[in-house]
Amino acid sequence: MEIEFVKFEAAAPEKAALAVIVFEGEVLSGSAADIDKASGGALTRALANTRFTGGKGQTLDLLSPTGAPAGRIVLVGAGKREAWDDIAAEHAAASGYSAVKASGLEVLRIAFADPAAERGAVHAALGARLAAYRFDRYRTKEPAEKKPSITMTEIVAADPDAALAAFADQAALADAVAFARDLVSEPANVLYPVEFARRLKALEGLGLEVSILGEAEMKDLGMGSLLGVGQGSGRESQLVVMRWNGAADPAAQPVAFVGKGVCFDTGGISLKPADGMEDMKWDMGGAAAVSGLMHVLAARKAKVNAVGVVGLVENMPDGNAQRPGDVVTSMSGQTIEVINTDAEGRLVLADALWYTQREFKPKFMVDLATLTGAIIISLGNDYAGLFSNNDELSENLLAASKAEGEPLWRMPLPAAYDKQIESMIADVKNTGGRPGGSITAALFLKKFVNDLPWAHLDIASTAWKKPSSVPTIPEGATGYGVRLLNRMVADKYEG
Ligand code: BES
Ligand code: MN
Ligand code: ZN
Repeated sequence: MEIEFVKFEAAAPEKAALAVIVFEGEVLSGSAADIDKASGGALTRALANTRFTGGKGQTLDLLSPTGAPAGRIVLVGAGKREAWDDIAAEHAAASGYSAVKASGLEVLRIAFADPAAERGAVHAALGARLAAYRFDRYRTKEPAEKKPSITMTEIVAADPDAALAAFADQAALADAVAFARDLVSEPANVLYPVEFARRLKALEGLGLEVSILGEAEMKDLGMGSLLGVGQGSGRESQLVVMRWNGAADPAAQPVAFVGKGVCFDTGGISLKPADGMEDMKWDMGGAAAVSGLMHVLAARKAKVNAVGVVGLVENMPDGNAQRPGDVVTSMSGQTIEVINTDAEGRLVLADALWYTQREFKPKFMVDLATLTGAIIISLGNDYAGLFSNNDELSENLLAASKAEGEPLWRMPLPAAYDKQIESMIADVKNTGGRPGGSITAALFLKKFVNDLPWAHLDIASTAWKKPSSVPTIPEGATGYGVRLLNRMVADKYEG
């Protein structure tokens, strides 16, 4: 779907829907009042027959009101005027888009009843783009009348040229979120580690440097922890390093992001139950978020040096798979007793984190991983969990989370719980039992980070929404993390 910015006065095309964003309790003011007047009170009459109040997410769809400036008028509730911000603008536009996306109309024009709201035009455009995301590569028989029909969304702006210029970075962000969502949505027979790596290699077109380590190179580096996870798979494990060098000083210390990329997690020999196992194709959501982040940093030429590292494996049961009780030696030299082969993400990250820290000496590392089912039990389906050894980095992440509408909640990292992952025969074991399962997973990761500021985002709760109640996130892959990290880099680590 394409985006254009237009002046309010510009005539709407013949077959178009006009979505008018109105504030709660001020439904018939501004341009909405003008439309009401032009249509001989059609809006007033319609409102008298509904419970539309302009509340967040409400829509009221009117067909062919005589005299109105479009064949279809959709009032979209923006919520209270005092709460109008970038996210509210995104959500309102996304709700307007969703109301008419499969209406048969090709053009949607989004206008704001109140000129004060028009400052949200750029974010409205982002909201429409995010809401229009769809993964339909494998639908070959969908009837045309079920497909989205809107191909163009025009956003009304006081200064369309200025809005278009300001939209460039947000458009790059929407592309990057879509890139991450595509990776997460792809089934595991298509997106296995080598194919994932290939898709990242293609990002060199954006100006990233991308290098790929295969199993032989990882063996030479001593990555016994990561390699043990992929050992039962017919697909070769990969470690991909993406570099963006945009800082004025090419030698400036980079910021680093590390992602869990388990292309499919069967649990291995500690096999998961069949019910819902198909969801484990998205166990690479952390790697997808890091990839999306690198995509947007390059596309908008961010003034920062950044490294993205993703550990790509497939966790399969097999005659050659690792067994519960096996002991592996990580690149750090620490030995790990593998109590449960289904606690594989931390094994992948152990080597990926160690490698990143040693190789790039970054300012900080942030890892993202669909690491534990326990984080869903702790926080539900909206919040990701934040674990960190550093308050400043945590504050920066939480501020970015708020600004971009990707909820994040800080969790504790009590050293006392380290007891739960003490092994009888090795330096550490890979599970700590059910109590505080997300915390002991994070404490395990911490052992593979030295004094560097580090944060771990457990996104098992947010990488996928089924169903979704967020207008800018269609059901399925969310791309969670791309926006948050991009915002943190932009606000705190550029220039
Ligand atoms: N990929 C899963 C975590 C997960 C579970 C993500 C559900 C999304 C939804 C991870 O590899 C895993 O299996 N974790 C185990 C750890 C346990 C064996 C200590 C878990 O959470 O049950
Ligand atoms: Mn697992
Ligand atoms: Zn997993």
